[in-house]
Amino acid sequence: MDKRDVVVYYFSGTGNTRRVAMWIAEEAERRGRRARVVSFETVDPRECLRDAEGTLYGFAAATHGFSAPWAMIRFVSRLPRRRAEAVVAATRAGMKFGREITPGVNATGNFLLAFLLRLKGIRTRALFWIDMPSNWTSLHPAFSPAAAEAIAARGERMTRRQVGDHFDRGKRASTWWTLYEIFWSLLLAPVAAVYLAVGRRQLAKLFYADHKCDRCGLCAKYCPVGAIALPKSKRLKPYWRHYCESCMRCMSYCPKKAVQAGQGWLAVVLVAATELLLAPAFYEWFAWAGAWKIPATMAAIGLGTATIIGAPYYIVWAASNVKPLARVLNFLTLTALFRRHRAPNTKPGTFKKDAGA
Ligand SMILES: Cc1cc2nc3c(=O)[nH]c(=O)nc-3n(C[C@H](O)[C@H](O)[C@H](O)COP(=O)(O)O)c2cc1C
Repeated sequence: MDKRDVVVYYFSGTGNTRRVAMWIAEEAERRGRRARVVSFETVDPRECLRDAEGTLYGFAAATHGFSAPWAMIRFVSRLPRRRAEAVVAATRAGMKFGREITPGVNATGNFLLAFLLRLKGIRTRALFWIDMPSNWTSLHPAFSPAAAEAIAARGERMTRRQVGDHFDRGKRASTWWTLYEIFWSLLLAPVAAVYLAVGRRQLAKLFYADHKCDRCGLCAKYCPVGAIALPKSKRLKPYWRHYCESCMRCMSYCPKKAVQAGQGWLAVVLVAATELLLAPAFYEWFAWAGAWKIPATMAAIGLGTATIIGAPYYIVWAASNVKPLARVLNFLTLTALFRRHRAPNTKPGTFKKDAGA
């Protein structure tokens, strides 16, 4: 039997993918291998894969916007070139309706990571897709702990079965899930591209700290991509930079439940922007732009996105620093009412402890 060590690098916002990485490591250990898990945020990718010959690598990531999170794509792109072998795993948004658990959609995520690994000389030996409780709590409330654990229990069975089938029988992927994800990739690749190019930056600018924030700084300290800035002045609240991944760690682990996503003001801004775009002046300009139509429209969209989301975000952040206004902001968000999701037995500092290249 193959006796190589196993190292699983993972991207996890709220702990689901960390659990899957641990299950993969446990299955490897049950088969007599040494295994460990490493959170991507603790290592410089250029220092990784040093012992490639004696190691099988795992790359596990949550799904974001029908793809892998940008931070994981960047991590994989910066790995050194090595002759090595890997398994790639994605966690998706499992949902529970009554007794039924429905699968999420990873679409391009695993395929893209496997492709990037191949460019580095790393062959993907197996692909796994695992449904875990959806953690997209800026969009919907988290499941009750009991429902979340029912989804996670199924996720654990999926992981152990798929990983076991690979280790014991060399199975490369589940046929059914491969066909399912190819279908969704063909349909949703453009959506994934727009998410990676623009969507994730816009979502980043939804976050603010409400009146309950006491500036403890946990969110900034444990953000996996260092996107939360905590100004020096004690009167000022944290703000989220455009490269936030929306991984939900800040929102889920804030001890005061003070991190919110302002869907309400985004809706107001988007309606205003749509009205503006539908104005006759826009069409006159479009006709006038002639041959420059496409580049000019793309530049307008880029500039518009930055202004539409960026400028009001500054106003939202300024308001978050004035207690009565911060309270008013919470009338424009549903997240003040939403339950948060996080994997059991994880603390915000848990991920940084899974360290070592
Ligand atoms: C911003 C964001 C986007 C997401 N997009 C998708 C998606 O496109 N498809 C899907 O199945 N799940 C999606 N999810 C759900 C997560 O991938 C899923 O809950 C995952 O298990 C979270 O893992 P983590 O706790 O390790 O971060 C998304 C979650 C977030 C926060």
